[in-house]
Amino acid sequence: MLTAYDYPTARILDESGVDGILVGDSLAMVVQGHSTTIPVTLEQIIYHAEIVCRAVKRAMVVVDIPFPVNHHAIDRVIDNAARVMKETGCQAVKLEGGAAQATVIEALCTAGIPVMAHVGLRPQSVHLTGYKVQRDEATLLDDALAAEAAGAFSMVVECVQGDIAERLSQKISIPTIGIGAGAGCDGQVLVTNDLFGLTSGYVPSFVKSFADVGELMSSAVRSYCREVEQGEFPGPEQTFS
Ligand code: KIV
Repeated sequence: MLTAYDYPTARILDESGVDGILVGDSLAMVVQGHSTTIPVTLEQIIYHAEIVCRAVKRAMVVVDIPFPVNHHAIDRVIDNAARVMKETGCQAVKLEGGAAQATVIEALCTAGIPVMAHVGLRPQSVHLTGYKVQRDEATLLDDALAAEAAGAFSMVVECVQGDIAERLSQKISIPTIGIGAGAGCDGQVLVTNDLFGLTSGYVPSFVKSFADVGELMSSAVRSYCREVEQGEFPGPEQTFS
């Protein structure tokens, strides 16, 4: 699974064979330039998710419920998650939480809305918890079992000690999708901008850049500026006669 927030990236991910595309609230950080995921709004997530869904022909698209939408009264959560499904065309929503969100997960599933849970580090609670590797196995297992019992079809496991994430994955029957949780999860997710080497500033140690797309883009822009300045672009091939 990888994240996408725009049409060309979603099309490339889909055509390249990724199984799942997450329109994550990481949108706030990697697209909008905020320092946490908290500022992104439901309207902004819907706007980007609708664009992504239009590009995707094959992969499953999951859309994040942004802070604090899943903490409202249940009727309101259902209305907002239903809006996400109806207005974007996605196949599921993701929300941060396990045991404390079990009632919400159950209500959404009862309403026919597939839910991916998110246990371990929950970036929407960063001001409460900080960004720390999660090592409390009992709490993690409680969260995972509660999310599964409430009807979640899968869960993200974020920033969890590897052996704990592996044991947790073995103890539950729905697929775990790890990020910073080692190879013992059933699947993996990364923020695509990190994978492309497009993230400036702090990059978590669990991230691997698979390409330096940022450098490719800079090099293309430098070439364009040079050719314009030297009168090489536009040439005869790019000029109507
Ligand atoms: O918002 C996001 O991109 C996420 C992933 C990091 C799992 O939640």
